Amino acid sequence: MENTGVVIRDVMMRDGLQNLKDFIATEVKIELFRMLVASGLQRIEFTSFVSPKAVPQFADASQVAQAVLPITPIGVEVSALIPNLKGAQFALDNGVRRLAFVMSVSESHNINNVRRSTAESIDELKRILALKEKHPDMIVDVGMATVFGCPFEGKISPKVVLQFVQQFYELGIRSMAVADTVGFGNPKEIREVSRLCVSEFPDVVFSVHLHNTRGLGSANAVAAFESGVHILDGAVGGLGGCPFAPGARGNTATEDLVFMFEAMGITTGVNIDALLEVAHYFQSVKPGIDFSSNILEAGVPKYLGAITQNSKEQKWG
Ligand code: COA
Ligand code: ZN
Repeated sequence: MENTGVVIRDVMMRDGLQNLKDFIATEVKIELFRMLVASGLQRIEFTSFVSPKAVPQFADASQVAQAVLPITPIGVEVSALIPNLKGAQFALDNGVRRLAFVMSVSESHNINNVRRSTAESIDELKRILALKEKHPDMIVDVGMATVFGCPFEGKISPKVVLQFVQQFYELGIRSMAVADTVGFGNPKEIREVSRLCVSEFPDVVFSVHLHNTRGLGSANAVAAFESGVHILDGAVGGLGGCPFAPGARGNTATEDLVFMFEAMGITTGVNIDALLEVAHYFQSVKPGIDFSSNILEAGVPKYLGAITQNSKEQKWG
C-alpha cells in the first residue's frame, strides 16, 4: 500500500555521527544502515563526502557507500552530503546517485562551515550540476543551513531565504531542504517560511531539517507538515549537530517524530520498535552515548503498538 502520510528521512548516520569525537567503526556504520532500513525508513542520509580534515568521522565515506548501496532495497532513497565539487566527484565515483549539497544562507556560517562565501558556494553548485552530462541519473538536492537563525548573525529574513530558493530554482534544483541548524526557529517562523516556499515554488519538493536544541523540534515539525512540507529529517536517538555551528545540538529524534505522527493518524511507514533497536544497538557499541529522545526514555505506550505494527505491514506487506 502506498504511504500517503509523512516521509521521515533519517540523518543519524550523517548529522548524528558528525558531531561525535570518537571514530565509529565502518562495520558499525554499516550495521546501523541495515537496521535503519529494516525499520521501514524510506529515506536515509548515510554519510558525508567532506574533507577528512574537517570531519574525520567520514574518512570512510567511500567504504560505507560501497557497502550500503548494494544492500539498499528498491524504493529506499539514500543520499550523501557534499559541500563541494570534490565531494560530488567522490560520491559519484562510489555509486551515490543522490547528492545533498549543503550551503548556508548566512555568509558567516557558510564561511565557517565550508570555507566559502555564499556566491562561491553557488558557483561550486554550478560546477557540480555540470557533472550531469557524465552522470545523467544524478540528483542534486540543496540543503540550506541556518534558515531560521545563524549562530553568528542571528535571525535570517524569509526574504533572503526565498532569494536563495529562487537562485537554486533557476539552476534547475527541484528538491530543497530548509534547515534550522542550531534550533533557533519556532512554529510561527517554520509555518511562515514553509508556506512561502510551498506556495511560491509549487513544483519544488521541500523538506525540513530541525534541531531540537530548545525543545521545539516536534512542534516545528507539525508546523512544517501542516504548511505542506511532507518530508522531515530526524535522527535516531536525537543525535546530531553541526561541528561548525556553536550551540548546535541534536536533531529531533526520528522515533519521537514517528510516535507523534502515528499517534495523530498520519502514517510514517516506520516501525518504532525497530528504531529503538537501532538506538539500543548504538548504545551497546558506544556505552554512555548522550541520546536525547523522549520515546527512548519513556517507551512506546501500549495503545500505539497496533498502529506501529500496521506501519510495518504497510511498508513490507
Ligand atoms: N572530500 C574529501 N577531501 C576533500 C574534499 C571532499 N569533499 N574537499 C576537499 N578535500 C581535501 C582536499 O583534497 C585537500 O586535501 P590536502 O590538504 O590533502 O591537499 C583538503 O581537503 C583541503 O581542500 P580545500 O579545497 O582547500 O578545502 P578547504 O580546506 O577550503 O575546506 C571544505 C573546504 C568544504 C572541504 C571543508 O570545509 C569541509 O569539508 N567542510 C565540511 C563541513 C561539514 O561537514 N559540516 C557539517 C555538515 S553541515
Ligand atoms: Zn543538522
